[in-house]
Amino acid sequence: MDAIPDARASILFVCLGNICRSPLSEGVFLHLAEAAGLADQFEVESAGTGAWHIGERPDARSILVADKHGVALDSRARQVTPEDFERFDYIIAMDRDNLAILQALGREYDSDATIELLRTYEAGRDSDEVPDPYYGGASGFENAYKMIRRSCTGLLRHLRAV
Ligand code: 4NP
Repeated sequence: MDAIPDARASILFVCLGNICRSPLSEGVFLHLAEAAGLADQFEVESAGTGAWHIGERPDARSILVADKHGVALDSRARQVTPEDFERFDYIIAMDRDNLAILQALGREYDSDATIELLRTYEAGRDSDEVPDPYYGGASGFENAYKMIRRSCTGLLRHLRAV
């Protein structure tokens, strides 16, 4: 059966601080969905498991790498909330530490969300984590961008098929 044309999937991308990896994932996924003419099919946000950067714009290095690839980042950092586990169909973690935190919260809130790692969707991946680039240089952000871009391409393809 064909997918229902106006069906929407809601996706929350999650990292630790919500200033480096998950805002980049949010921006890249929206960019790809827009390019495919599917932006109205998805509700996309990002959040962090940590609270240190609440209210901040993404890290300047994430904004720079996104801009270099024609992707705009419009989010402000926030922490995951209990409501997220009801609102979102997919809660997508950048690494195993954050995945474990989200899975524990998902159990606590009796969530029906699919909680998984972003790189699950990357064809030919060499690891299942997007490493935290916060304490490194610009090359870590370019690497994160590439993993995120490949993964979001796979995620979009998957969501078009379900
Ligand atoms: P993110 O990177 O989880 O990809 O946003 C980090 C940002 C900030 C911190 C750690 C990771 N921090 O410790 O402040």
